[in-house]
Amino acid sequence: MKLLHLDSSILGAHSVSRQLSSEIVAREITLHPGIEVIYHDLAADAALHLSGAHMAVRQGAALEDTSLGNDIAKGDAYVEELIAADIVVIGAPMYNFSIPTQLKAWIDRVAVAGKTFRYGADGPEGLLSQSKKLIIAAARGSVYAAGTPAAAYEHHDSYLKGLMSFLGITDITVIRAEGLAFSTEAKEASIKQALNEIAALAA
Ligand SMILES: Cc1cc2nc3c(=O)[nH]c(=O)nc-3n(C[C@H](O)[C@H](O)[C@H](O)COP(=O)(O)O)c2cc1C
Repeated sequence: MKLLHLDSSILGAHSVSRQLSSEIVAREITLHPGIEVIYHDLAADAALHLSGAHMAVRQGAALEDTSLGNDIAKGDAYVEELIAADIVVIGAPMYNFSIPTQLKAWIDRVAVAGKTFRYGADGPEGLLSQSKKLIIAAARGSVYAAGTPAAAYEHHDSYLKGLMSFLGITDITVIRAEGLAFSTEAKEASIKQALNEIAALAA
């Protein structure tokens, strides 16, 4: 089995999503001894933003720039890793109501028509295996509960879930720590609850 683990927080050792994603991976290793883990710290080593030059190469233009070539190879590897993974764990902080730009740069590389999705007569179809499991470790400063005015600003784990569903993943779990900016007590309680949910994750 293979597990793909991504982190994207810019807050290093202070990051809550990193703490949670690492606990999730430890739990999955316990549940699946011997599972192969591939890890990317996207904040430390992000892909370039998808550009016209990338798209031109996809359309068959000659590749003359070595750094662009290296970046395209990195994006191709992202796609292969995602296709091969049985379990995907994504550490996803909320920044400005959405995901970090480094994580979006990864998404822009793995959402590739003909590889991870396609459009047909019946509309879009995700091409990733439905046996794949995705666990999102979401962290955010405020609370965006359904039915509250703040819910309209939540483009964070709902966006990630929507995007990954579009690519075909149906088994999606969100472990969420929120209200982290409210108080020290609220932060500790939310992290504790998230850790309990992680401890209860089943195979
Ligand atoms: C640049 C930046 C932007 C943020 N934007 C939001 C936001 O829009 N909404 C929110 O609820 N919290 C926001 N926060 C708070 C983070 O969501 C919170 O610190 C969370 O712990 C981030 O996850 P991390 O600790 O893994 O980085 C922001 C934090 C940073 C550093």
